[in-house]
Amino acid sequence: MVNSRFTNLIDLNDMSSEWWLNVVKRASDICDDPAKYAKVCDGKIMATLFYEPSTRTQMSFQTAMLRLGGTIIGFDNPATSSVAKGENLKDTTKIVSSYADIMVMRHPSEGAAKAAALTADCPIINAGDGSHLHPTQTLTDMLTLYREKGRLENLTIGLCGDLKNGRTVHSMCKALSSFKGIKFVFISTKELGMPQYIKDILMAKNCQFSENPSLEDAIGELDMLYMTRVQKERFASEEEYLALKDAYILDKKKLNKAKSDCIVLHPLPRVDEITMDVDDDPRAMFFKQAKYGMYVRMALIMTILENPNESRPLLTGSTYPSVACGNPNCITHKEGYLPKYFRGLGDMLECEYCDERRLGN
Ligand code: NCD
Repeated sequence: MVNSRFTNLIDLNDMSSEWWLNVVKRASDICDDPAKYAKVCDGKIMATLFYEPSTRTQMSFQTAMLRLGGTIIGFDNPATSSVAKGENLKDTTKIVSSYADIMVMRHPSEGAAKAAALTADCPIINAGDGSHLHPTQTLTDMLTLYREKGRLENLTIGLCGDLKNGRTVHSMCKALSSFKGIKFVFISTKELGMPQYIKDILMAKNCQFSENPSLEDAIGELDMLYMTRVQKERFASEEEYLALKDAYILDKKKLNKAKSDCIVLHPLPRVDEITMDVDDDPRAMFFKQAKYGMYVRMALIMTILENPNESRPLLTGSTYPSVACGNPNCITHKEGYLPKYFRGLGDMLECEYCDERRLGN
C-alpha cells in the first residue's frame, strides 16, 4: 500500500458521493453570489501543468483561482518547459508542487496524475489523463444537471460519440452510477464503444445501461444527451479517424425528436458533431455548462485547500516488478522508474495507474 499525504483528486471514486455533492452544492452557491468568495484563497498559488492542449479546463481553473483571490503559475505547452530537455514527470511535478499550494495537471498518458501524486509535495488534481478519466469535467456535468434539471437521480442519460477514447464519459459513468435511478444509453459505433471495464463497474453497481447505435432511435427517451467529439489525437492513423469522425451529428431535425426538457451537453470542443443550428435551442446547454465549469472548479479548489492534508491510499494492490501493463499508453511505459502496481481480480491483474486489465502470470 502506498499513501499520499495530500487531498488529491485523481478519480472521483476515491472520494465519497457526499464529498462530490458538497462540491456541487457549494459551486451552486458560488454561481448565485461569486463576489462572496473573492478572498478565500488569498495568498495561495495554483500551478497548472498542461502537457496536452486545453482551452476550457485550463482557463476555467485559472480564472477560478484568480476569482478566489489566489494566483497562478504553470505551462500550457511542455515544449517551453524543461520537459523539452528530457526532464521526467517525477522531477517536473516534484519541483512545481514544492512551489505551489495545489497543482492541476493534464497529460496524454493514462495514469499520469496518479504517478505525479506518488511524489508530489502538494495536492494534485487530475485535469485529464489520456483516454482514462476527467473528474473535474464530471463535476461540471453534475453541477449542470443540478442547476438545470434539479436532480442527479432518476435520469436517463444518452452518451453519444467516441465512448472508447473519451475520458469525460468514463468519469461520468463511474460517478453517476452511484446515484439512484440512473440509466445510461450508449450511442456509438462498435469501434467507438464503451470499454468493458466501465460496463463491468456499472454491472457491479446494478446501474442499468443499454446500447443503441442509432441516435435518432434513442433520443426520444433521454433526459440528457451528452454529445462527444471523436478523439482524433487517440487514433493510430488519420484514415481510421476519418472513417468514424462523422458517425454522429446532432442537428435541429434530430433534436426535434427529443423531449421538450431533454438537455444537451457537450464537454467541448465541438468539431462537427453538433450543427450550429442547435445552439439557439433552449435545450442546448453546452455553453452554460462550460461556465459552470469555472464555478465548480472554484468550489473544488476551496474544498481541497481547506483540508489539503487528508492522507489517502494511492496504490492499494501489490507490486509486480516483472509484469508490464498491457496498455501502450499507460504512464508506466513512458516513466520506467514507476513501481508497477496491480490489483488482483480473479485471474486478472488490473493496472493501478490506468485500470487496464490483463491475465495474471
Ligand atoms: C474534453 C477533454 O479534454 O477530454 N474537453 C474538456 O476538457 N472540456 C473533451 C474533448 O477534448 O473532446
